[in-house]
Amino acid sequence: MRMVDLIEKKKSGKELTKEEIHYIIDGYVKEEIPDYQMSAFMMAVYFQGMTSLETAHLTYAMMQSGDVLDLSKIKGIKVDKHSTGGVGDKTSLAVGPIVAACGVPVAKMSGRGLGHTGGTLDKLESIPGFKVNISEEAFIDQVNDIKLAIIGQTRALDPADKKMYALRDVTGTVNSIPLIASSIMSKKLAAGADAILLDVKYGDGAFMKTTADAKVLAETMIAIGKHLGKNTKATISNMNQPLGYAIGNALEVIEAINTLKGQGPEDFTTLCKEEAETMLLMAKAASSREEARAKVEDAISSGQALAAFKAMVKAQGGDETYIDHPEKFPKANYQIEIPARESGYVEDLEALRLGLVSMKLGGGRARKDDVIDHQVGLVLHKKIGDHVEKSESLATVHCNVPLNDALKEDIYKAYHITSEPVTKPQLIEGTLE
Ligand code: URA
Repeated sequence: MRMVDLIEKKKSGKELTKEEIHYIIDGYVKEEIPDYQMSAFMMAVYFQGMTSLETAHLTYAMMQSGDVLDLSKIKGIKVDKHSTGGVGDKTSLAVGPIVAACGVPVAKMSGRGLGHTGGTLDKLESIPGFKVNISEEAFIDQVNDIKLAIIGQTRALDPADKKMYALRDVTGTVNSIPLIASSIMSKKLAAGADAILLDVKYGDGAFMKTTADAKVLAETMIAIGKHLGKNTKATISNMNQPLGYAIGNALEVIEAINTLKGQGPEDFTTLCKEEAETMLLMAKAASSREEARAKVEDAISSGQALAAFKAMVKAQGGDETYIDHPEKFPKANYQIEIPARESGYVEDLEALRLGLVSMKLGGGRARKDDVIDHQVGLVLHKKIGDHVEKSESLATVHCNVPLNDALKEDIYKAYHITSEPVTKPQLIEGTLE
């Protein structure tokens, strides 16, 4: 086999075989295929797409390029959850404990944030002492003991994806559905879960800008799951405004704690409950949505979901007193209100712009090795559909240096105010399977 012939084959829109795809991925990881040929190949995929079978073969080859976690020592059906990312997306922090409190094991490997979307690990590290790097053995023991662990990657999972993503980033091939779908699914499959729930977001603050694109990505990933025998479902949700009110690491942890106490924002709570219910159904811990809903409601109202979060924090070395007393999280030096310049209704609230403000305050990374400031971020007071009076605060900015005018103006630009009443947007489009 020669790489150049396979590039030609894809360029002319033909379907590659399993052997040909494995030849490409194995050769690339072993550095027998150079970056320039891989770039040409991925550009051919970008323009010609891939069939569902090709995408599944690609995913499998990528997954096999590194270690695959064996979670068989954990009893029960392990359901993983993955969000395609957004602003204020702290869902794993609440959904994991809710599901664990319902008796379903949650063994989750999460990532760090880059750009305007925050990472679950960064958020958890705002709890003093919390360790995200624990051994695989300790990880498995912890899930068997308390049903819940959220950690960083322990082994060399999916090296093909690391190399390909870095190359896609500089060759204009990030935005290709088969490449995104195989990238996400190969990592999830390598992480060893029995079933996967995806939260595919669409909108201004998300990777996919439209509902239609989010659905195509979700369907592509579900098809990969079907080909590879992994039960996969996808919730399609709106990221045209931030999720919940808090954006920023410690601020989002506090919001997740409030949500576990049953006092969270309505949109965030709705999404967490929906996802937790779907995970219970996938884990066969409930036989109907109604039964799953009752279990989820009970996990929250009984305090067991909060207790599960606290147990995880303690097991991973964190100071669990912060969970009962969130006021202990150190505050940023400044809390600055952003008063509305006019009265009216919030018509639009640009998630991306607000995510970038939080990142520029120090809450996110522009580059991989940037250090995160856990205290900074924004707490919104008004979201789409809300009425605001002139001078009323739109948001509180938490920052450690005085807020500069450019960032302040960015917040005003993110808020679009109109005189006409606005209906609140639909958060969940549905769950595909
Ligand atoms: N997230 C991933 O993990 N991979 C992509 O290609 C895009 C988003």
